Amino acid sequence: MTEQPLLNEIKALIKSSGPMPVWRYMELCLMHPRHGYYVSRDPLGREGDFTTAPEVSQMFGELLGLWTASVWKQMGSPQFLRLIELGPGRGTMMADALRALRVLPPLYQALHIHMVEVNPVLRERQGATLSGLRNIAWHDNIDDVPEGPSIILANEYFDVLPIHQMIRHENGWHERVIEIDGNGKLQFGAASEPTPRFDVLLPPLVRAAPVGAVFEWRPDGEIMKVATRVRDQDGAALIIDYGHLRSDAGDTFQAIARHTFTDPLKAPGQADVTAHVDFQALARAAEDVGARVHGPVTQGDFLKRIGIDTRAAALMQKATPEVATDISIALNRLTDTGRSGMGSMFKVLGISEPRLTAIAGLSDLEQAGGN
Ligand SMILES: C[S@@+](CC[C@H](N)C(=O)[O-])C[C@H]1O[C@@H](n2cnc3c(N)ncnc32)[C@H](O)[C@@H]1O
Repeated sequence: MTEQPLLNEIKALIKSSGPMPVWRYMELCLMHPRHGYYVSRDPLGREGDFTTAPEVSQMFGELLGLWTASVWKQMGSPQFLRLIELGPGRGTMMADALRALRVLPPLYQALHIHMVEVNPVLRERQGATLSGLRNIAWHDNIDDVPEGPSIILANEYFDVLPIHQMIRHENGWHERVIEIDGNGKLQFGAASEPTPRFDVLLPPLVRAAPVGAVFEWRPDGEIMKVATRVRDQDGAALIIDYGHLRSDAGDTFQAIARHTFTDPLKAPGQADVTAHVDFQALARAAEDVGARVHGPVTQGDFLKRIGIDTRAAALMQKATPEVATDISIALNRLTDTGRSGMGSMFKVLGISEPRLTAIAGLSDLEQAGGN
């Protein structure tokens, strides 16, 4: 059996301090300074654990580049713009976006690139992908990015931020915890006492959930930083992730390794642990600080509205038959609106300075349906 230093450390912590809340477990799995999943590896791609939209096709990043250009124009074409990416993976999306933006010299020259990344292995990879770029800087946190008008992009970033899980009992909502069972294995449990008055904070749909239901919530800190920044310093943010349009009960805490779902309690630090993003909660937090919210819409709708079919057709025209087939497969994968297709599982939310009343792909008239 392979060594599991983080599992041993988590068990020792539970033995000394008692059951561990799910959010703390998730935080340790991802960000433990030595054994955290995002501290030590490049998890992306076919040889890794999962594949993201920018890794599926160059079209994704190119279209986000064109979206950036459209928002920049609506902002009055400022001569200075910070393009910030949260959790930029291998740097693929930024490289594709910048290639698309090169055809617009006034914007390309205005750009200062900021990569918010905690993972040293991925930072190095991003540096290689974007080598030769001037005006690029890396940061641990969005707080460290200097002030200025900004466009912020985040694909599959919010799903890795730790969640709290609450479980409904007869006498109220209890924090869900991780404990050790009689065989020395990790298992889910619940705090012995309910969290006082927790239901007061819940959306009505969730308040009516039956005993045994699970409700997940993320602290608003990160989304508030993003929303406050665009509200005060001009600009917009685009958040793309898998999740639900409306706040609801449901257990979405999951682990993925080698492209397969696995037990999130089995090998802490060795699998990607995530939970779906509650887009209604993100939108509410952004509106609460006075930013304007656009959407959310499904990824399929968003990409079609900003022209993915046209881009695919243009690429296919110049391609060999084999490459054209690959492009067509990628187009399908990104926009597929079947139940578990990326086009419907993933949602897109815009957040902007209040005077930007409509932004490409997300205007108020174009609300998506679905769950
Ligand atoms: C699921 S990957 C998505 C990568 C990329 N956006 C893509 O679509 O390919 C999550 C990214 O967020 C980074 N990350 C995770 N937690 C972070 C944190 N707390 N602060 C900054 N970056 C973080 C990871 O290292 C990785 O680059």
